[in-house]
Amino acid sequence: MYDFTTLVDRTDTGSYKWDEMKRLCPDVPAGIVPLSVADMELKIAPEIVDGLKDYLDKTILGYTGPTQAYYDAVIHWMERRHGYSPRQEWFVTSPGVVPAIRMLISVFSGKDDAILLTPPVYGEFQASVDYNDRKTVNSELLRLDDHYEIDFDDFEKKAARPDVKVYVLCNPANPVGRIWTKEELERIADICLRNDVFIIDDEIHSDLIMPGEEFYSMALLPEKYLMNCAICTAPSKTFNLAGFETSNIFVPNPEHRKAIRAGHGYKSLNILGYKACELAYNKSEAWLDELIPLIAANRDYVTGFLKENIPGARVYPMQATYLLWVDFRFLGMTPKELEEFMTQKAHLFLDEGYIFGEGGEGFERINLACPKWVLEDAMKRLKAAVDSL
Ligand SMILES: Cc1ncc(COP(=O)(O)O)c(C=O)c1O
Repeated sequence: MYDFTTLVDRTDTGSYKWDEMKRLCPDVPAGIVPLSVADMELKIAPEIVDGLKDYLDKTILGYTGPTQAYYDAVIHWMERRHGYSPRQEWFVTSPGVVPAIRMLISVFSGKDDAILLTPPVYGEFQASVDYNDRKTVNSELLRLDDHYEIDFDDFEKKAARPDVKVYVLCNPANPVGRIWTKEELERIADICLRNDVFIIDDEIHSDLIMPGEEFYSMALLPEKYLMNCAICTAPSKTFNLAGFETSNIFVPNPEHRKAIRAGHGYKSLNILGYKACELAYNKSEAWLDELIPLIAANRDYVTGFLKENIPGARVYPMQATYLLWVDFRFLGMTPKELEEFMTQKAHLFLDEGYIFGEGGEGFERINLACPKWVLEDAMKRLKAAVDSL
């Protein structure tokens, strides 16, 4: 039994999430826990803590690359959890998935080219396009009553534009909670291959799969599709290790790897990040297997609470991630009014839907990776604020 109930106070530790809460509401009452940025308000696995302590006792923190034991840990994890075996030569070094996305956009597109996105989607995709001074072509997801879909007619039209060179896919999808099916992925991969659009496939949330759901990695698609994509993975979401800036990026096409390594990419990474990833994948699987039911229980609790007490709020089913996507448009507020209402009135610090691009306005993303009692407090505050309107 792991400790998923103790809250670690992150005030004044430099945590983005906690600092942002203070910025938005300098006089926020004591005891409020922010539920925004995607890291967990949960202690990390003791196997990682103990392993790092032991490592620090014995090592020197010099420039360091991956060891064979590291490669084996990552490869075996993907084999066990996702059913594919990344080859050692596929690894491309990058400190984090977002730096990888930025680097891949710069390699696979030129100055006047465009990048295809399917919003609402993780805001750093748009930021990475902007960082590279590229255009964005959006194909907004279709919002149905109880789930989202790719609008394939529109997607195909946009992918066929001659200036579109790269598509950034979020699989599973943050913030809408979807796991894309094998058929959907094949269709995406086929459209992109036919139109010479390179796929950056962000699978950072792929270990956080809810009970009863099944994740399908793009790495399982036929070889011809694999040769047209980069698969971005990391232990950071899974094991709450984001501060280590460690990721594993797989690029199966040797020509693509050559292009990346010619003038781009990184040499050595964070030495402790390598070790933490190895410890996570080799020794902390039981922790993850205990975490997932807790996240699912938190999801069910918040979904049930909203249904019963704030029925206007529509919750989209969260098949994966620990991020719940909720439609608050029934309140009839502008995005700024909604933000003000959440932060100043309900003292709820969530991620505002508008940061996820087209189709996000009026929604909120709630981070469920925290002790359940934190969510119970948050829901009470939300109900009181809504009742007072
Ligand atoms: C879809 C997605 N990709 C990437 C990241 C961040 O990746 P990294 O910290 O490895 O740069 C996040 C963090 O929330 C995310 O949700």
